[in-house]
Amino acid sequence: MSTHIGAQPGDIAPLVLLPGDPLRARWIAETFPEDVRCYTEVRGMYGFTGTWRGHRVSVQGSGMGQPSMAIYVNELFDAYDVQSIVRVGSCGAMSERLAVRDIVIASGACTDSSMNRIRFEGLDYAPVADFGLLRAAHDAATAAGLDEAVHVGLIYSSDSFYPARPELAARMVDYGVLAVEMEASQLYTLAAKYDRRALAICTVSDHIVTGEETTAQEREQTFGAMVEIALTAGTA
Ligand code: HPA
Repeated sequence: MSTHIGAQPGDIAPLVLLPGDPLRARWIAETFPEDVRCYTEVRGMYGFTGTWRGHRVSVQGSGMGQPSMAIYVNELFDAYDVQSIVRVGSCGAMSERLAVRDIVIASGACTDSSMNRIRFEGLDYAPVADFGLLRAAHDAATAAGLDEAVHVGLIYSSDSFYPARPELAARMVDYGVLAVEMEASQLYTLAAKYDRRALAICTVSDHIVTGEETTAQEREQTFGAMVEIALTAGTA
């Protein structure tokens, strides 16, 4: 096993879906794949492997924020030879072009995190999605009749759910940013480092400008549609 994942080599599939919430990981594993086995319970950050439409797939909780997520993603790539990771998460809409329950496919990610500033000694690095996964996810969303609800563009991976200076985040909207979440930037960076594929797909759970929120039932429904898109894209 690796430091934070209690799995043996081979227990984890080449494709991993990565929700932040370990209970979401369990819900995905109970709802979509068959013949599911839990491979880790370390720190309650569950991971499962099963079969979805003939493909082995895994689902791993990552925790919230880039430092937690990076622990799991480093170990998935380094110790378990995972080839593709699709984050399935939620985000807060920043742009008025978005409505709650919409789906954002992040083509690239900005961040206020110091992780890449330290890694690149102050140089700006532009973390981007894998184009093949991105195209397949957009195709899957369109095929599911979700073209109106799906947006492809920049996301903002913030270290703060409760930002000290919200006006700085709001300025990012003027530069094309659609929504805020807390993980995509470092996920894309680590995929580049290990020469693997990554994509972040997020459903809009709340709207930072309008204050609109989703109900728990709506969140489950849109989350399910997003998981279908992620599985279809990852196994295409
Ligand atoms: N901020 C950061 N991450 C989020 C938010 C938010 O408002 N909503 C859902 N994920």
